[in-house]
Amino acid sequence: MADDDRRHGAGDYEPGDTSMRVGMESLRERGLDPEELRERLIDAIGAEFSTYYYYTNLRMHLAGHEDYKEITEDARLEDRAHFELVAPRVYELGGSLPNDIGTFMERASCPHAELPVPMGGDAPDNIEQLDAESVLEVLLEAERCAIRTWSEICDMTHGKDPRTYDMASRILQEEIEHEAWFVELLSMERDGEINPAGHFVRGEPGDAPYSTNRRINDSA
Ligand SMILES: [Fe+2]
Ligand SMILES: [Fe+2]
Repeated sequence: MADDDRRHGAGDYEPGDTSMRVGMESLRERGLDPEELRERLIDAIGAEFSTYYYYTNLRMHLAGHEDYKEITEDARLEDRAHFELVAPRVYELGGSLPNDIGTFMERASCPHAELPVPMGGDAPDNIEQLDAESVLEVLLEAERCAIRTWSEICDMTHGKDPRTYDMASRILQEEIEHEAWFVELLSMERDGEINPAGHFVRGEPGDAPYSTNRRINDSA
């Protein structure tokens, strides 16, 4: 069919050209810079990866608070799900993860969620200063940074990039839940105040009801 001129049959490139992606050009046509978005996504998932690592350490230091450990574990595993959900999108947008993990962590969009008191190695033995309240404060502020990060991606992509917007809004829903969990726990632990999150525990640890990529894409 030489004269086939169906509406979306051809674009502004030679058929078979692999040096460009229609999936990126379509964003540009809508006023979204795909390269800028992709770099923001790398920063954002750098923060997810960092948080996954640092929450492991925070969780370990909530000994004696099994309920807090369980909730921190949900938030920790869901951050790993957030990293895994969005990593393929970086490649679809013509990018790649930094080869050097130090570079990746350097550009993460949130501060590292370090233990509030230096522990282990050459650090002085500060164990008696490490209480649940101070750990919960670190967790809460990490969640708030994640909300700001994914809200920004939602704003950038709304009405322009349905695929990234869908991912970012799924993640944002869970980050808002995470903030509510730690508001509840810190309110009681530090201030003796009841400040309900409105939720109950996940069915399975780190269930990621909105974001897990297994439910969206079996191949990822
Ligand atoms: Fe996250
Ligand atoms: Fe989170």
